[in-house]
Amino acid sequence: MSENTQTTHPLELTDVSFGYDPQGPLAVNHVSFTIQKGSFVAILGHNGSGKSTLAKLMNALYLPTEGQVLVCGMDTTDDDLLWDIRKRAGMVFQNPDNQIVATVVREDVAFGLENMGVPQPEMIPRIDAALKAVRMTDHAAAAPHMLSGGQKQRVAVAGVLAMEPEVMILDEVTAMLDPSGRAEVLSTVRKLNRDKGITVVWITHFMEEAAQADRVVVLSKGAVAMDGPPGEIFSQVEELQALGLDVPPMAALAGELRRAGLLLPQGILTVADMVKELKQTLCPSR
Ligand SMILES: Nc1ncnc2c1ncn2[C@@H]1O[C@H](COP(=O)(O)OP(=O)(O)OP(=O)(O)O)[C@@H](O)[C@H]1O
Ligand SMILES: [Mg+2]
Repeated sequence: MSENTQTTHPLELTDVSFGYDPQGPLAVNHVSFTIQKGSFVAILGHNGSGKSTLAKLMNALYLPTEGQVLVCGMDTTDDDLLWDIRKRAGMVFQNPDNQIVATVVREDVAFGLENMGVPQPEMIPRIDAALKAVRMTDHAAAAPHMLSGGQKQRVAVAGVLAMEPEVMILDEVTAMLDPSGRAEVLSTVRKLNRDKGITVVWITHFMEEAAQADRVVVLSKGAVAMDGPPGEIFSQVEELQALGLDVPPMAALAGELRRAGLLLPQGILTVADMVKELKQTLCPSR
């Protein structure tokens, strides 16, 4: 299956289950989905719904107790492919302080490359390009502990980026940041997806972040509860609320207005969408 990497998907999960305790409930329960190359997919779910477990199954940090995970066509249970799998599927975690290992930004970005045994002359342009892509070139010589949370997460993203992965899996990387840090990290990763075609799995519990994805997969109790474009997912207000999730305020308002008899289309997520659609519905001639 791994011979032709041109046609394989970055991630392919088939009936994947994982339990921490053989006697206990499954943390990931018969999950199947394929992530298309170049897509930006949000995984959304309540606390304990299995998001982090699923993330760790996606780059062989955990192995499925049942089913199969393929990373660029490579089975994560194949020990011989472990290195290649980790290179192709890079992970960024929630806490920026736990993933910065060096005392200088540039050295931190170099860390993964050194582990991979990339020769020095090749490392330099890769580090420079990664720092540039996350707009941290000016901080290359800085001490990471002097940076803001958002800047630290961008350094962590650069460390993964320098490995030239096919897919980046980011597990609640904005959870510990203030609103401006959150926006800066999301826009950096969105840009890497658009400009460099890197496939992104963006795990979050922030609706407004998921709303910016191409596709939203909603997890509940370890299983896929919904899967579709954000406009479709966020129009299912009651279903989301039943899963313990909020909907974006404008999507909730659109639902209320529809129930009150206003003919509004699906897919309203932002204030700008709402203004546009209300204008068209209420004053179509203007
Ligand atoms: N190391 C562990 N040992 C035992 N059970 C665990 C472990 N990690 C997670 N679990 C359990 O597995 C289930 C899924 O947890 P997981 O951390 O994957 O969910 P999550 O969606 O990432 O949650 P959160 O929103 O809190 O990050 C939960 O019931 C959790 O209690
Ligand atoms: Mg988690």
